[in-house]
Amino acid sequence: MSAKIDSLLHEHRKFAPSPEFAAAADASPELYADATHDRLGFWADQARELLHWHTPFTKTLDWTNPPFAKWFEDGELNVAYNCLDRHVLAGNGDRVALYFEGEPGDSRAITYAELTAEVKRAANVLIKLGVNAGDRVAIYLPMIPEAVIAMLAVARIGAVHSVIFGGFSAESLRSRIDDANAVLVITADGGYRKGKISALKPAVDAALQSGDSSVRNTLVVKRTGQDVEWNDRDLWWHDELASVDAEHEAIPFPAENPLFILYTSGTTGAPKGILHTSGGYLTQGAFTHKNVFDLKPETDVYWCTADVGWITGHSYVVYGPLANGATQVLYEGTPDSPHTGRWWEIIEKYKVSILYTAPTAIRTFMKLGRQIPQKFDLSSLRVLGSVGEPINPEAWMWYREVIGGNLTPIVDTWWQTETGAIMVSALSGLTETKPGSAQVAIPGITIDVLDDDGQHVGYGNGGLLVVTEPWPAMLRGIWGDPERFKETYWDKFEGTKGAKDGPLYFAGDGARLDHDGDIWLLGRVDDVMNVSGHRLSTAEIESSLVAHHLTAEAAVVGAADDTTGQAVVAFVVIKLSQAEEASHEDISTLLRAHVAQQIGAIARPREIFIVDELPKTRSGKIMRRLLRDVAEGREVGDTTTLADTMVMNTIASKMRK
Ligand code: PRX
Repeated sequence: MSAKIDSLLHEHRKFAPSPEFAAAADASPELYADATHDRLGFWADQARELLHWHTPFTKTLDWTNPPFAKWFEDGELNVAYNCLDRHVLAGNGDRVALYFEGEPGDSRAITYAELTAEVKRAANVLIKLGVNAGDRVAIYLPMIPEAVIAMLAVARIGAVHSVIFGGFSAESLRSRIDDANAVLVITADGGYRKGKISALKPAVDAALQSGDSSVRNTLVVKRTGQDVEWNDRDLWWHDELASVDAEHEAIPFPAENPLFILYTSGTTGAPKGILHTSGGYLTQGAFTHKNVFDLKPETDVYWCTADVGWITGHSYVVYGPLANGATQVLYEGTPDSPHTGRWWEIIEKYKVSILYTAPTAIRTFMKLGRQIPQKFDLSSLRVLGSVGEPINPEAWMWYREVIGGNLTPIVDTWWQTETGAIMVSALSGLTETKPGSAQVAIPGITIDVLDDDGQHVGYGNGGLLVVTEPWPAMLRGIWGDPERFKETYWDKFEGTKGAKDGPLYFAGDGARLDHDGDIWLLGRVDDVMNVSGHRLSTAEIESSLVAHHLTAEAAVVGAADDTTGQAVVAFVVIKLSQAEEASHEDISTLLRAHVAQQIGAIARPREIFIVDELPKTRSGKIMRRLLRDVAEGREVGDTTTLADTMVMNTIASKMRK
């Protein structure tokens, strides 16, 4: 099958930042010019400017053994020192680092001086427990300040964290602990979620029950105060922190010292332990956080809604913002607890100026209706960001109009757990943005869209997204599996013409280049459909469906079809305010005609099913694989990674009727 993806949806709206915004922005067009002129020199300058190096580096990149890259190899730094001590030493100790907002309404402001003090104690506890540089520590916590403190304490002593999202089961926890041979687990008694207390420690107990584990101790944060079983290996976080010295001097580690492993699921096989290291990761995280969002650390209040269990939480809650000395909100709970206006209430309360969230959240708010955010004062917002999935143009417009008061730039940021930091995005102070397009590679990053032969597809065409040169925050491998690292990301274009200048990183995403050279993400390549010989993108048809005023959310899959090879089958969630308006049959007819009119008859869904909810992973991504099972009348496959496993039962039973 040809890699060319037929792209049919066209978008002509454009929004430049206001002249005042652009004039006050730090990012200038020279960033692109400098990076084009001397890419490695550009990154070396950023690394020197944005970070403190205990030992300056003299080499920028070693790419003599691809795909294993080394950045700033002979330099030494301490990641936690960069995120904490140096801000205090620069006189910013009183600046708030975290405005913590617990789900039940408890809140705490933590300054850089306080955060530094806590991390120093936590680092001393790790040392007391025999954790050495290079050892792995599993972190299984709710979104509470201790999650950030634990990550930074591990980084401070040169150990490696593996954060496991609190929603994962005991079994997932155990497999990740075993894969990394973690010596310590940091957890909590429980956390607050959807208005209830949810336990965490029992999952750790269950994970470690069968013995033979590398874990020597578990350190337990008291968050909810619920009863917990106690084992010999268990220690209370607060007791341990109180028992150690308050001082801890951050010693430097080599730039390539591993910083963390983060597991991400592939389409097949066991989750991959994506390995990130220190200097390059922190450089690109800090650079992108500063320039994409136009961060002004003295005045902005930044809020990234991601959990620290995901890469977005690593790079844009912990490392990027703290390296830049930002003030940010950390929220424990869900958007609808105790009421559906909770996020907007938080923005009003803390005068949040930069909001970074995911399309799935935006579409959920669209479904609930604009009257909810409109009850709150959102005028403090000046930049909005999106990450995790293609953002449908209509969701983008809604975000801008309803949340951004028609003024704020929106940055749609494309990247992955593997890329470590933002790769493709507008820069909010510079770029004229287009709803639905992630637009251009950030300065210093080289991206292309290729066909299967490794040839550039040319403007107006779709193909496969690749990164053509190594980048500072790139993954350094898959933990314990160098072969899988090569196969998964680097073998795709080997031997093709495009690969002649060196190996190409295959991201697994389809993309289109428009006539301005802007990039449009078309979804995972595995989700692409082939209808009558045309490769159609799920993202585009979904965007067309969401553009209709009845629709809040849509998922599209290709189902086997005798005539066309595959046929488009859509699952649609109707906006609450519209749900009563028409029969399902009428809605389906309307939407089919709408897609045919907007994109073309080739994209008209064969069937449209109206559902109450779409199956999503815990990080909010739609699981099209399961919908494909339903559409093709198969038994529904593995649902264990769904946030709500019941959703598929409801959908499947609806189909059977
Ligand atoms: O398919 C792309 C999609 O999310 C994938 C990476 O997922 P993960 O490693 O969980 O990281 C998510 C947060 C960085 C990508 O391969 N994706 C991410 N951002 C976008 C996106 N798709 C379209 N537009 C985006 N802005």
